[in-house]
Amino acid sequence: EQFDFGIVGLGVMGRNLLLNMADNGFAVAGLDLDETKAKSLEKEAASGHQVKGFIVAEDFVKSLKKPKAIMVLVPAGKPVDAVISSIRPFLSANDIVVDGGNSYFPDTDRRFSELAKDHIHFFGMGISGGEKGARFGPSMMPGGDEKAYERLRPVFEAIAAKVDGEPCVTYLGKGSAGNYVKMVHNGIEYGIMQLIAETYDVMKRGLGIGDERIQEIFETWNTTELSSFLVEITATLLKKKDKSTGQQLVTLVSDRARSKGTGKWTSQNAMDLQAPVPVIDMAVLMRDISKYKEERVAAAKLLPWEAEGEEDVAIESLKDALYFAIITTYAQGMVQLKLASDEYKYGLNLEEVAKIWRGGCIIRAACLEDFRQAYRRDSALANLLLDEKIAEDLVSRQGAAREVIKVAVDKGVPVPALMAALAYFDAYRSETLATNVIQAQRDYFGAHQFERIDKEGLFHVQWDEVTG
Ligand code: 6PG
Repeated sequence: EQFDFGIVGLGVMGRNLLLNMADNGFAVAGLDLDETKAKSLEKEAASGHQVKGFIVAEDFVKSLKKPKAIMVLVPAGKPVDAVISSIRPFLSANDIVVDGGNSYFPDTDRRFSELAKDHIHFFGMGISGGEKGARFGPSMMPGGDEKAYERLRPVFEAIAAKVDGEPCVTYLGKGSAGNYVKMVHNGIEYGIMQLIAETYDVMKRGLGIGDERIQEIFETWNTTELSSFLVEITATLLKKKDKSTGQQLVTLVSDRARSKGTGKWTSQNAMDLQAPVPVIDMAVLMRDISKYKEERVAAAKLLPWEAEGEEDVAIESLKDALYFAIITTYAQGMVQLKLASDEYKYGLNLEEVAKIWRGGCIIRAACLEDFRQAYRRDSALANLLLDEKIAEDLVSRQGAAREVIKVAVDKGVPVPALMAALAYFDAYRSETLATNVIQAQRDYFGAHQFERIDKEGLFHVQWDEVTG
């Protein structure tokens, strides 16, 4: 019993987190059924660091100090249950099991109750930042048993990314709050990635801007209000050339996009909560459309569109449109978190969520500080669009979004996420919507009743008998 902390699953994330913990002075044990992964671990650790790899669950668990703290970092779904079953016989009351993967949140609730029977504390903690984040400072989103979190807080605060000295980790809320927040983080991630790709497409196919110039534009944008991890890596990856052909590497990457499910779960659950997240929906949908490659190739011939004439859009407008759409994406995700917090009793504090997303994670961006301030001004803010400062940012950029969409439509370049961002904005700022027509239709064919704006109560009329 000598190790402070144990990690199961020594893939890139698990291994890097473990080395990060060791850097911070913790004695850490790792478990992986793959012997090469377990054994190579000790070689990778810096000298003087206390690190050991195990291949047998019992030996691994027994090597940990009591009460034991174990983090599981294996693919979501069955592997998590398999790991829990393999270590459970060696755990006792007060031990802590943390699931650091992208688990589906209802699974976290189920595991929480199962382990609680043996007084084992379980919590789900979303971890963002990819390989480098894990190694040098991720953003972590823990939820579940608060007392258990408090015990592990020193470890997590030590390894987390820091922004102005503040660690990008904090206890978020009860039950599956941590996995839920990470799921929505990923939904927003999908949305922003899609918006960046659309902007690239408008530049390339819509405006015929050359590859090098596009790269420079993204690089410049990263020094503006658009400054963010995703804009930064886009600028970096657009620079890279394929070794053998000398071509820009990104142009050789297949356009069939894959996904592991977190974006889809965000959209699916948003529908259940009646939280409109159209940018995220479009991002999920575009990855799906991308898979129909053969059909798209055939359709390209059968369904042509020849754009007439040259179009021009100021680069500044492209930037403003992208910023506008990114802000609405965060706003949509934050509303979903608010509704989920009410529905699942998470007790989320959105100011804290914005705070821990400012560094370490994939959606870290300069604008998160603005959101944090917005929630600081009003912790019950229903939607970021209702914050005066954010509203100003959007109002001044909406013209640019409209301009870019017009050009994209003229040129036949698909920009569904940008369109969804603007449609959301226009719908949200509409004092009256045309949904009165829908209510009338429902009553016409199904006697579903409707409310009136001039009288209290529910009404049904025989529409055929009403004079025209
Ligand atoms: C992160 C990422 C990471 C991963 C997701 C998304 O925050 O570090 O979100 O968790 O990239 O699994 O992956 P897909 O695009 O494959 O769904």
